[in-house]
Amino acid sequence: MSHPRRPAPARIGRRATRPAAAALALALVTAVLAGCNSGSTPDASPTATRTAPPSPSPSATDPVATAAPAPATEEPAPVTPPAPAPGFDKTALSIDDPASLWVVSDKLRPLKPVDYAPTDLVTLDVASQNPPVFRREAGDALLALFAAGEAEGAGAFQVQSAYRSYATQVSVYQGWVSQLGQAQADIQSARPGHSEHQTGLVADISPVPLSCALQACFGDTSQGRWLAANAWRYGWLLRYPADKTAVTGFTYEPWHFRYVGVPLATEMHDTGVTTLEEFFGLPAAPTYAG
Ligand code: DAL
Ligand code: ZN
Repeated sequence: MSHPRRPAPARIGRRATRPAAAALALALVTAVLAGCNSGSTPDASPTATRTAPPSPSPSATDPVATAAPAPATEEPAPVTPPAPAPGFDKTALSIDDPASLWVVSDKLRPLKPVDYAPTDLVTLDVASQNPPVFRREAGDALLALFAAGEAEGAGAFQVQSAYRSYATQVSVYQGWVSQLGQAQADIQSARPGHSEHQTGLVADISPVPLSCALQACFGDTSQGRWLAANAWRYGWLLRYPADKTAVTGFTYEPWHFRYVGVPLATEMHDTGVTTLEEFFGLPAAPTYAG
């Protein structure tokens, strides 16, 4: 597998971080290996129902209702097709292109190419355990998310892990396999080429001060509860809900948020669909194909 060189990410945000590249990679892997436990708190929203607008009914003053019948020889009135119901276009962006905000990567959908690397990575100036790298739009959206959460009383946030290259995911996944065995590793760490972290659109989020990090108990912190309820407003999705392990293939990760953009996150929130697989009608991905 080749790993083409990519330009060093630009820096945006409030505070620059300048570790050596080797230290950065080591710190990233170390932090990711720090812990990923499963949990059990469901987080489902009720499904919204949609109803068609009522048709106008004829009234006493309606000329159509009071007019005499048209002569049989008259040309029939042209039939106007009903306007398409306004709705969300699920095909607006690709779910296959790894550079798309809507790309769906899971155990049955490896990134193509598997060693994909984004071209617009930036290092975010934000509280973090490691220098956090994101695609630019996701980085901006994360700053807005953290600012809103703090302003609304959730407390302070920090990034635990963000972009991970294919090579980094090789190390992360192998670390878990060595520590836990492959079966357990596979329900909490994605195999290289299958991790959304490789898209630059993911943030593993921890509280400040650091208490429950990368564990199910994060979902019970004020930060975790606020994120679960509000992340959609800023385009973020809690990607691995507690009650959707059979769909996503991964245990509950209340700290792992995926940026999909505000329109999709809002539509998923409003319709109560909590996984990308279900929203786009994709097969459940509990296990790898091979
Ligand atoms: N922990 C998630 C599934 C990942 O490794 O991408
Ligand atoms: Zn993650």
